[in-house]
Amino acid sequence: MKILVLHGPNLNLLGKREPDNYGSATLEEINRGLSLVAEKSGVELEIFQSNSESELVDKIQQAVENFDGILINPAAYTHTSIALRDAVLAVNKPCVEVHLSNIHSREDFRAKSYLADVCAGQICGFGQDSYFLGLQALINLLKNKL
Ligand code: DQA
Repeated sequence: MKILVLHGPNLNLLGKREPDNYGSATLEEINRGLSLVAEKSGVELEIFQSNSESELVDKIQQAVENFDGILINPAAYTHTSIALRDAVLAVNKPCVEVHLSNIHSREDFRAKSYLADVCAGQICGFGQDSYFLGLQALINLLKNKL
């Protein structure tokens, strides 16, 4: 089983970026934690971060051939990107949306996600644990399905 992990814009700055909202873990530390979760379940991960919407769309499109499911933190594109939504719909693979912060308890514009209703589910508000819980949930979903 192979899962694509996508991190959207500005998440490369985790650790130094708004620690009150996003915690002190770096993206590298989160990726290491994700790899441990995956290893325990015998799952292969490909992890990709981009600040570019088009690169994220290109990666999602690769899921048709190469991946069983997608774990994504679309970051700011969550609230703006019909292109990412359409890509998720196009590939028709289970997708889980995660956020470090609770997007429902912040500015009003963050409560709207263009991806949430085309994903299997959304996990937010638990810091880096949102990623680990999201990955485990996706693995469980895929294992029951496959
Ligand atoms: C975020 C929440 C988004 O609103 C924000 O634009 C981010 C990070 C999160 O993980 O909490 O960049 O996706």
